[in-house]
Amino acid sequence: MELYEAMNLRRSIRDFSDEVIPKETLKRIVASAYTAPANDHFRDWHYIVITDRELMKAAVNGVPKDLTEKTVDDMAFISDPVQKDSYRIAVPKQYRMLIDAAAVIIPLMKKKTDILNPENLSDLNCYASIWCSIENVWLSATSEGYGCNVRIPWGDEEKIARNVLGFPEDYLIPCFIGIGRPAEGAVKTKQLAVDLDKMIHWQMF
Ligand SMILES: Cc1cc2nc3c(=O)[nH]c(=O)nc-3n(C[C@H](O)[C@H](O)[C@H](O)COP(=O)(O)O)c2cc1C
Repeated sequence: MELYEAMNLRRSIRDFSDEVIPKETLKRIVASAYTAPANDHFRDWHYIVITDRELMKAAVNGVPKDLTEKTVDDMAFISDPVQKDSYRIAVPKQYRMLIDAAAVIIPLMKKKTDILNPENLSDLNCYASIWCSIENVWLSATSEGYGCNVRIPWGDEEKIARNVLGFPEDYLIPCFIGIGRPAEGAVKTKQLAVDLDKMIHWQMF
């Protein structure tokens, strides 16, 4: 698939078919992470690929299972109606979109700076870099006909995954990724329209 086509097709997929993804395909998709730009040249990201259903469930067991549309309605910070509709679709699926996937992919980033208390922007470079690699994975999955979702770990979710998967303390999970073949009728959220003529500036703001 051509790159721009993959970019245009890439969407968050939270409903999956039962299809298994061959290991060599998963490997090709995850390997694409390592062609991403990296702030310090090291690309010392680890990726854990879990296809064992029980292990997937254990690793994401910290993700809330009881979120509902009401949870979204109580989120005072959402005012835009398109955004609210998209949260109503996404939030109740946070757990299922991971355990119903063909695999859960967990990127791991070495904490070299205190990214929760940065002194300057460059303290966040390692976090920015791993997100470049995550986008590669997402686009590669799309180009192979699969779909991905991402969930940012909240509260104890990372600690629970660490206890199950045994990765070192100095590695952080930027997100959980669910990957699989989109189910027929998989619900995609409506996109907010972006007026490129207003957002892209030529010469001056
Ligand atoms: C940094 C980041 C964090 C996100 N966190 C979540 C999340 O925790 N749960 C979720 O379901 N989607 C999450 N998403 C996906 C967005 O909701 C989604 O990309 C957005 O609604 C646009 O929809 P699209 O991906 O289908 O184009 C996240 C995306 C990004 C880039």
